[in-house]
Amino acid sequence: MRKKITVVGAGNVGATTAQRLFERGYADVVLVDIVEGMPQGKALDLLESGPVLGTDSMISGSNSYEETAGSDVAVITAGIARRPGMSRDDLLFTNMDIVGGVAEQIARHSPDTIIIVVSNPLDAMAQQTLKVTGLPRERVVGMAGILDTARFRTFLAQELGVSVEDVQAYVLGGHGDTMVPLVASTNVGGIPIGRLLAQDAVDRIVQRTRDGGAEIVGLLKTGSAFYAPSAAVAQMVDSIILDKKRILPCAAYLQGEYGVDGLFIGVPVRLGESGIEEIIQVDLSDDEQAALNNSAAAVKELVEVMANRPPAAEQA
Ligand code: LAC
Repeated sequence: MRKKITVVGAGNVGATTAQRLFERGYADVVLVDIVEGMPQGKALDLLESGPVLGTDSMISGSNSYEETAGSDVAVITAGIARRPGMSRDDLLFTNMDIVGGVAEQIARHSPDTIIIVVSNPLDAMAQQTLKVTGLPRERVVGMAGILDTARFRTFLAQELGVSVEDVQAYVLGGHGDTMVPLVASTNVGGIPIGRLLAQDAVDRIVQRTRDGGAEIVGLLKTGSAFYAPSAAVAQMVDSIILDKKRILPCAAYLQGEYGVDGLFIGVPVRLGESGIEEIIQVDLSDDEQAALNNSAAAVKELVEVMANRPPAAEQA
């Protein structure tokens, strides 16, 4: 029997993720959204691409969760983007409710599933998912580090005129302004980046990486990135479904690793059929560790805002 994957949210990120996973052909896909007809329509359109692409997988759309039962992996992309006049806390509370509700339904219908959280603010939404589902930390993982690292590698490869495949790098920390590119260990074909690029060029690329999401939003105007995010999700799903045990930067719930306790933060993890099989501890320089602490503090602030949320009556 083929594996089963649920993708919640049939917007750009969810639909593109569903497309990439359907085209892999190794799993059946269920696409869920609250908008009537939309997940069904997109799923049917994708299904009809099967004969052309040579994919025998099933893909279906639904407005409820019964069809998701028994999923091996569930990807949560549901949530809203910030609109004019909304504070970060407004976004946080709205998406906390949406993601919390989705996560609870997913876990009820697929108690053995591994959940990949994509909704923003990423690290806080992963925390909310872990809390409402009560799943073991191995089975709740956030997508951000692969995307941030891919942006970093893209810009470095462009600058140096080399293949993106030959740029090895890690971007750790929270998915936000405080992300932590590990510059000292970044290398191109084994050569440290510091021997290939001047410090100001590296600094410029680090800054462009931090602003990577905003750069796309600025161009699109009505939405945020989805091609690179969905590619990153698919790489995580590959590693889980095919038990590849790849070492990838993902948001994981730390319990003392890297000196962080009780928070999701981006670190290298080994992803396999049981989810996060190991949190890989790489050596950080003092500066990198300080930057990671700073990033953890930013995530902690959001988590505390969620925990201290005023009761509904006081919010108006
Ligand atoms: C980004 C947003 C979607 O980094 O988190 O593109």
